[in-house]
Amino acid sequence: MNIQSCVSNKVIAASLLLSLLAVVAAADFNKEFDITWGDGRAKILNNGQLLTLSLDKTSGSGFKSKNQYLFGKIDMQLKLVPGNSAGTVTAYYLSSLGSTHDEIDYEFLGNLSGDPYILHTNVFTQGKGNREQQFYLWFDPTKDFHTYSILWNPQSIIFSVDGTPIREFKNLESKGVQFPKSQPMWLYSSLWNADDWATRGGLVKTDWSQAPFTASYRNFNSQACIRTSSGTSSCSPSKNSWFSQSLGSTGQQRIKWVQKNYMIYNYCTDTKRFPQGFPPECSLS
Ligand SMILES: *[C@@H]1O[C@H](CO)[C@@H](O)[C@H](O)[C@H]1NC(C)=O
Repeated sequence: MNIQSCVSNKVIAASLLLSLLAVVAAADFNKEFDITWGDGRAKILNNGQLLTLSLDKTSGSGFKSKNQYLFGKIDMQLKLVPGNSAGTVTAYYLSSLGSTHDEIDYEFLGNLSGDPYILHTNVFTQGKGNREQQFYLWFDPTKDFHTYSILWNPQSIIFSVDGTPIREFKNLESKGVQFPKSQPMWLYSSLWNADDWATRGGLVKTDWSQAPFTASYRNFNSQACIRTSSGTSSCSPSKNSWFSQSLGSTGQQRIKWVQKNYMIYNYCTDTKRFPQGFPPECSLS
């Protein structure tokens, strides 16, 4: 064998090994999630590598993580309902239970073909939300899979899209703002009909002749502290990097870029809604 082919064989062997590792690394949806509703409309496919949700006139569908998380860095790739998705909402969020629950929300509000989706975000603490920020995206979220991430550690909650931070909710407990830090949360997602409010504030209704509507999920990846039923929490893999991760100056600049060019609603600037003054985190962030 000459050197050339020996080297290229090594390259082939290395790339085979890498693709094998990639297959091993992507989490198995069967192991991580339970389908919770939708009577067969939610499906786990390709040996646990793909999950699809669908919605028709009778029902939507949804899933929930088996694990409860208390802090984590959670990534998922989503490909949203294509074509005329007006009236549909794909929700993807972390939430704890009960009337004083905490919640970290992404919601994708569908639209007519060619019109932009709205990415809606919110943070609930102790049952109280009212912290909406909405964005357009800088790509068509229905053409391909894109990564939507939540970093939740004791210092802040950071929402990122394809690695670009779009929103930060800082821990400002020292200034009297509640922060989610003691209630474990599950990861949920659902696809449902919300044509009473989702698209142009409810003006555009779901066109059921386009049903079923389908959203797809792949490459779930979590580095998180997992709460077991006995109440203990184990962090895996090592929590060192994400647990203390913060935005840094590049991240701050990216958020400013997104907010300047793509933010379409911010509760912190809605004077009609808060005539008596904005919530405290608005001036502290
Ligand atoms: C849908 O498209 C219209 C027109 O471009 C836009 O005003 C609206 O923000 C878009 N998104 C939703 C979810 O309504």
